[in-house]
Amino acid sequence: PLVSMTDMLNKAKEGKYAVGQFNINNLEYTQAILQAAQEEQSPVILGVSEGAGRYIGGFKTVVKMVEGLMEDYNITVPVAIHLDHGSSFESCKKAIDAGFTSVMIDASHHPFEENVEITSKVVEYAHSKGVSVEAELGTVGGQEDDVVGEGIIYADPQECKKLVDATKIDALAPALGSVHGPYHGEPNLGFKEMEEISAITGMPLVLHGGTGIPTEDIKKAISLGTAKINVNTENQIASAKTVREVLAANPDVYDPRKYLGPARETIKETVIGKIKEFGSTQKA
Ligand code: G3H
Ligand code: ZN
Repeated sequence: PLVSMTDMLNKAKEGKYAVGQFNINNLEYTQAILQAAQEEQSPVILGVSEGAGRYIGGFKTVVKMVEGLMEDYNITVPVAIHLDHGSSFESCKKAIDAGFTSVMIDASHHPFEENVEITSKVVEYAHSKGVSVEAELGTVGGQEDDVVGEGIIYADPQECKKLVDATKIDALAPALGSVHGPYHGEPNLGFKEMEEISAITGMPLVLHGGTGIPTEDIKKAISLGTAKINVNTENQIASAKTVREVLAANPDVYDPRKYLGPARETIKETVIGKIKEFGSTQKA
């Protein structure tokens, strides 16, 4: 069923595993991620950035595409449709009104008080519709879609506590050294801060920039309260490689299903691998 993130993330934090947010970029990503989650009997979060939403046709198209696939595929695992890095209250409201079951309001680049104000407004509207809310403090590095990190500022544990108490969000993304897109060198995650933030807020924590984080860091983050891990670039790199290989090996191919189909398989296998790594297999 289509659900908010709240239950699945609280269970994940409790059970010491993480639920993957896999960003959708088109039909094939959506198909692959739903198939992977169903096969693994895992809850799953379909992340939709504002850019991907526009590319697919709009938030309504995203919701109808997901609903149609869930019916045709007989998906029985819990699925959340989640606005990734929502840039304003208006954008979050639009997604909620279109049928999204979860939103992130990313007001982390605003002064703290403004972040609290915007996030509270989103929570009030979202919760009145049974929709979950994720907020961010600190800044995630790297560049993704139209989300540009101004370099990395670690989240402050005391500010995290204040934000959570003031806004009643359902999940918190404290930026602690992760980067959107490929890492340049080893990630240097703030595990000490992560442990402290998890303890003082009690929140399921979200790790952005999941691509390229070594398995031992993934496991450590989960042990310290991370219950949601976002991955996009890894699927994009893997599936682009498949398209290149298919077209190089078959220069006369022009039927899109001949190269998008194999790309879809690659995404599915990659997502299955991440679900296993995050420990959410059989947790539906
Ligand atoms: O919100 C999206 C994720 O943070 C994606 O990060 O592309 O580095 O896996 P990634
Ligand atoms: Zn992100």
